[in-house]
Amino acid sequence: MMGLQFALKTFLLHLLLVLCTHRSHGDAREMTISNVLRLPSEEENGVSDKGMHRSRPVHANPSTRMDHMDPSLMIFFTLNDLKVGKKLPIFFPMKDSSSTPPLMSRDEANSIPFSCADLPHLLHFFSFSPGSPQAKAMEHTLRECEIKPIKGETKICAASLESMLDFVRETFGSETQFKVLSTTHLAKSRTLLDNYTILDEPNEIPVPKMVACHTMPYPYTVFYCHSQETENKAFVVSLGGDHGGRIEGVAVCHMDTSQWSPNHASFRVLGIEPGTSPVCHFFRGDNLVYVPINMPIHG
Ligand SMILES: *[C@@H]1O[C@H](CO)[C@@H](O)[C@H](O)[C@H]1NC(C)=O
Repeated sequence: MMGLQFALKTFLLHLLLVLCTHRSHGDAREMTISNVLRLPSEEENGVSDKGMHRSRPVHANPSTRMDHMDPSLMIFFTLNDLKVGKKLPIFFPMKDSSSTPPLMSRDEANSIPFSCADLPHLLHFFSFSPGSPQAKAMEHTLRECEIKPIKGETKICAASLESMLDFVRETFGSETQFKVLSTTHLAKSRTLLDNYTILDEPNEIPVPKMVACHTMPYPYTVFYCHSQETENKAFVVSLGGDHGGRIEGVAVCHMDTSQWSPNHASFRVLGIEPGTSPVCHFFRGDNLVYVPINMPIHG
């Protein structure tokens, strides 16, 4: 129970942070997270009760001016930007070791219900009142976790290391060795959003397959892990910020965006249309990216 209490405390801190960002930007931050996590297909996009956060445009107003944009949307770039000396505005929340408490054991995780149907019971268990920000965050996470994967995608929400690694093995094949990549902060930046310069030739990591895992707002640590069949390129990029930040950033480029919703935040940030250019994004420090070792690049 110690672990759970600790997790609960950090959840509340995390939530506070989310809410502070929300106050001035409405739903945009949550949209960002959802949009990065999952890319709604055309059909799915019209269905409003499925994935409530993904089926609406990010902003109701058509403003595309950068200065009115949620700073947390500043993670996108194009493949052409990946050049030494290129400067990119990027939002990199500092990875705080207390913000991602350890995962539970599989037995512990299995002992707590995890579904939308159990929400009333769970709210009671965690002492959150219905309609509270915590309740909304939990509902958001449970919904995201219950949405069926889109075509060519597999996904899981894992609250234990065992189930996360099982998913990775299922995706790569049990014989395949793999390693995990994550963005590392070598030196702290004085700002969350900064202009970062690409310092070295980006290091491409072969990814015939990859699994990306994102932490979700929840009273204990839950990773949303997913894998897509469409072609991706992955890179580790050395970045130097104008305000002291030094980052080894893990990035992925989605080579085919033709099936993405035109409402996807990246298109507005980059000012491009679906399918016209690969869309890349950096991973925050609390994301995990699993990649196979020694597998030939396909295609
Ligand atoms: C990044 O650079 C642009 C152009 O020089 C500037 O307008 C902007 O304020 C800078 N952003 C930050 C976060 O320093």
